[in-house]
Amino acid sequence: MKPRRASLAVVAACIVLFNVQADRSQTQNATSKPSFPAVGNLSQVMRGILFPNANLIFNVQTHDPSVQKPAPDNSSSDGLNWIAWGSNLYSPWELVDYAAVTLAEPPPLRFTPGRQCENGKPVPVNEPEWIKFTQELAEAGRTAYKASQTRSQDAVSDATAVITDACSHCHQVYRDRRGPGVDPRDPVTSKANRCVKQLQ
Ligand code: HEC
Repeated sequence: MKPRRASLAVVAACIVLFNVQADRSQTQNATSKPSFPAVGNLSQVMRGILFPNANLIFNVQTHDPSVQKPAPDNSSSDGLNWIAWGSNLYSPWELVDYAAVTLAEPPPLRFTPGRQCENGKPVPVNEPEWIKFTQELAEAGRTAYKASQTRSQDAVSDATAVITDACSHCHQVYRDRRGPGVDPRDPVTSKANRCVKQLQ
């Protein structure tokens, strides 16, 4: 009986060892995941992604994508509007879909470690308010996408209110700073106080 017990103990030890090895290799896999360091500051991300896409959705209030296809604008001297080029490839409602997806999908971008605001302060990725506002915007994007799928101008117009709220809830705290000596319209003091909750 004794030797048998001993071999059971060896087997058990091997299982433990095997589990430790498996854990280690999982950790290694996790750490060898590709990393995507920040390239732009937060303002660049806002201006490049959120601004154009939110505006496209806001424009649905006054332009029905079912009836109005944006007129081609070939106003540049060589007949090519290089900024708008490509935007006519998809149907107007598809463009609204894509803009809504762009609000709903990239919130992880706002948690990229190492990203800075224009004033050099780190994006407050770990603050509960920041996380809450980022989630609120993703939810607004999902609402806009659902509305766009109904192909109803009214439904999308209603969703724009949800988007506006999501943008401004975060901006009130982290962007449009106001307080003693800080006016949100003053680009110097206001910008210096962005991305921090305590006025400096
Ligand atoms: C989670 C917070 C948050 C949300 C949500 C958010 N923003 Fe921002 N936004 C900021 C902060 C902070 C700045 C200032 C960034 C900086 O100074 O680098 C900013 C800056 C901007 C700017 C640049 C302003 C300038 O000075 O030129 C634009 C444009 C902008 N946001 C648009 C939007 C739009 C549109 C939405 C909604 C669809 C939105 N943002 C949602 C936090 C947010």
